[in-house]
Amino acid sequence: MGMIFRKIVSRWDELWEDSKKTCVWSFYNIKIKEARNGIMVSSFGVTSKGVETSLYTLKNQNGMVAAVSDFGATLVQIQVPDKDGKVQDVVLGYDDVKGYEAGTLYFGATVGRVANRIGKASFELNGKTYQLTQNDNQNSLHGGRDYYNYRMWETEEVDDNHVTFLLHSEDGDQGYPGNVDIRVTYTLTEENEVKIHYVAVPEEDTLLNLTNHSYFNLSGNGSGTVLDQEVMICADAYTRADAESIPTGEIVPVEGTPMDFRQMKPIGKEIEADYEALHLGGGYDHNWVLNGIGTRKVAAMHSEATGITMEVYTDLPGMQLYTGNFIVRETGKNGAIYEKRHAACFETQYFPDAVHKDHFQGPVVRAGETYDTTTTYKFFV
Ligand code: BGC
Repeated sequence: MGMIFRKIVSRWDELWEDSKKTCVWSFYNIKIKEARNGIMVSSFGVTSKGVETSLYTLKNQNGMVAAVSDFGATLVQIQVPDKDGKVQDVVLGYDDVKGYEAGTLYFGATVGRVANRIGKASFELNGKTYQLTQNDNQNSLHGGRDYYNYRMWETEEVDDNHVTFLLHSEDGDQGYPGNVDIRVTYTLTEENEVKIHYVAVPEEDTLLNLTNHSYFNLSGNGSGTVLDQEVMICADAYTRADAESIPTGEIVPVEGTPMDFRQMKPIGKEIEADYEALHLGGGYDHNWVLNGIGTRKVAAMHSEATGITMEVYTDLPGMQLYTGNFIVRETGKNGAIYEKRHAACFETQYFPDAVHKDHFQGPVVRAGETYDTTTTYKFFV
């Protein structure tokens, strides 16, 4: 099996080299349209509205691959060679655009304008009340409607290690004020980092809180539960939430609770503990108050089975660790079956419902101000 895989990989390398010189060829099911500035561009299928979508495959010298699509500015694959040299795709997802159009779990999604929840799906800004869509109890979750991950993004820039997608979000989009152009750049570095950089300058005062909703399984997508994989979160506290996952405003120390991830521990170690937050979230689905400010390491995950470790870096104040509690038998890549807790999301963010809490930072961005934030997922073996 290992041999066959290596053959496939080296054939892939040859085709990759060829693709830089020529234009159209196909490899297995992947139709390569062109190689643009060293990046492989393949068809990702046609949407139900007849729109052609593309998959951009970035590759580094260490055998890592990150593939992203203009459909939803979605992170589709992160391939990492494991301790035995076998390549593992460590994010859940689908084979083509049809899967992403039908999927409701936000696999690899770019989420906006405001990721996570806004209580009662409304907010006030400059004396005016804005009504959003109540798509999660009475609240708005991940934009509420017309989700960014179901839209076609313009591919603005393609270079040998990065792709920039652009979305024109208009005044009133999802109920939010102000036109805003949102740019998301995915970069794969030679240091084995997948960097996600968001930049937006709204024309009017508005709210912005973008995140990436990738579901990580460092033993490989489709390998089953992540409960035995270890996680660390550099946070002394988390934001307590109510039964609808809206923060109460309390900042609760993690010390002595199952929310304490300051030392690496298996995700499953205390997930079934008799603790209010775990009952309400059906497992981990909470915002951690990240220690420190500026760009810093905020979390890590490790699989003993593959030897793969991931570190998470961000400049944002919060992060949702969501352990896939609501996945119900989802068919993904190559027919893989994903179930509850088969992955974990590390969604960096301003705290949920920050617009209603004076002591939570963000997410108001004033007209002409630059919203600029970067989250990096870095891999080691
Ligand atoms: C939320 C979960 C939700 C998941 C998928 C996470 O960000 O916190 O409650 O089920 O996204 O929508």
